[in-house]
Amino acid sequence: MIPSARILLIVSGGIAAYKSLELIRRGRDRGMSFRVILTRGGAEFVTPLSFASISGEKVYQELFSLTDEAEMGHIRLSREADLIVVAPASADLLAKMAHGLADDLASTTLLATDKPVMVAPAMNVMMWANAATQANIATLRARGVDVVGPGSGDLACGEEGSGRLSEPHDILDAIERVLGHEKLLSGLKALVTSGPTHEPIDPVRYIANRSSGKQGHAIAAALAKLGAETLLVSGPTREADPAGVAVRHVETAAQMLAACEAALPVDIAVCAAAVADWRPARAGNQKLKKNGANTKSLDLTANPDILATLAQSKTARPRLVIGFAAETEQVVKHAEEKLKKKGCDWILANDVSENTGTFGGDANTIHLVSASGVEDWPTLSKQDVAQRLARRIADHLRGAHA
Ligand code: CTP
Repeated sequence: MIPSARILLIVSGGIAAYKSLELIRRGRDRGMSFRVILTRGGAEFVTPLSFASISGEKVYQELFSLTDEAEMGHIRLSREADLIVVAPASADLLAKMAHGLADDLASTTLLATDKPVMVAPAMNVMMWANAATQANIATLRARGVDVVGPGSGDLACGEEGSGRLSEPHDILDAIERVLGHEKLLSGLKALVTSGPTHEPIDPVRYIANRSSGKQGHAIAAALAKLGAETLLVSGPTREADPAGVAVRHVETAAQMLAACEAALPVDIAVCAAAVADWRPARAGNQKLKKNGANTKSLDLTANPDILATLAQSKTARPRLVIGFAAETEQVVKHAEEKLKKKGCDWILANDVSENTGTFGGDANTIHLVSASGVEDWPTLSKQDVAQRLARRIADHLRGAHA
């Protein structure tokens, strides 16, 4: 199952560190996955073993540890997360963040990351009220860091006031908000095609391509997470069926088209499948024999274009039809031509030349081409592409509603 969010949780010193165990437990119930960085202060309150047991992952502690750095450098820890959450965030760690200090694994990771960061402060009421802490918090907010809490009430130090770590469910709600996992697409129907198609030559052979289905499956999962009622029409892949998504497994382009047409009407259609352009004109009923021949030619006939069919439907055109353009040269130019030719609303163009590793790989560099221009996205994991696309679709459709 694809996790709904991958959280890199930094636990710094403070009596509230024990609440982070609860945060992980409840977060996993919501489908999130957690990796933990434990600061030296944090480890005074809760053992690494507790975090390892509850997260099901190794706990990272040392910047200069051979094992931590060899197994998973701090850059990779952050790259493989959707969000970094610091809970509890001590006054000391907040100060380090505000001033760009990097003298341990937690602060170095925070300084080196390009992922969104959320902090949930917890400290003594006087420390929280101190002008230095307030200035640090204001600096962090201004840089786009999300701040959750602190709440007020009885503090562990015996005083009363502001400084309590927010409750785990409040932090989890904030995580879902920041990652756009609110149900922005509820009430809408989405259709996604994914994977290759197999076009039979005879009962044992077929024409196929190298599509893994990773991108299409991740898009279906991301749309479903935003609340869309999602149908994934998938060619043969090794990908697991995503959670919360209805899946129709097909083999050929003709079957894929039939499954898509049967799903109409929908609000959103995303054609991520690498549909075979051609199929053998006549698939043999029996295995073709060599019969001593040194060469053999295959008559091919064009397959239906699923994206164009959906985009040009007179009776049930989805409100937003999105295609991909797999190109090996002049990526944006070809995508612009495809947009016109197929009549869809957006094309996500990507370079699939051999050195990019896009086909079958885990990353993708997208150029979103539409009638209003070209948006260049940074290189992202296919999951991040899916989340960004789902969010973009929600913004577009909600904007159109307004
Ligand atoms: N597509 C489709 N049905 C087809 C062929 C392609 O739905 N029979 C969709 C793909 O899912 C993708 C888009 O069309 O969203 C573009 O696919 P691509 O392979 O890049 O383009 P082609 O139309 O096949 O054009 P060409 O091979 O000439 O680049």
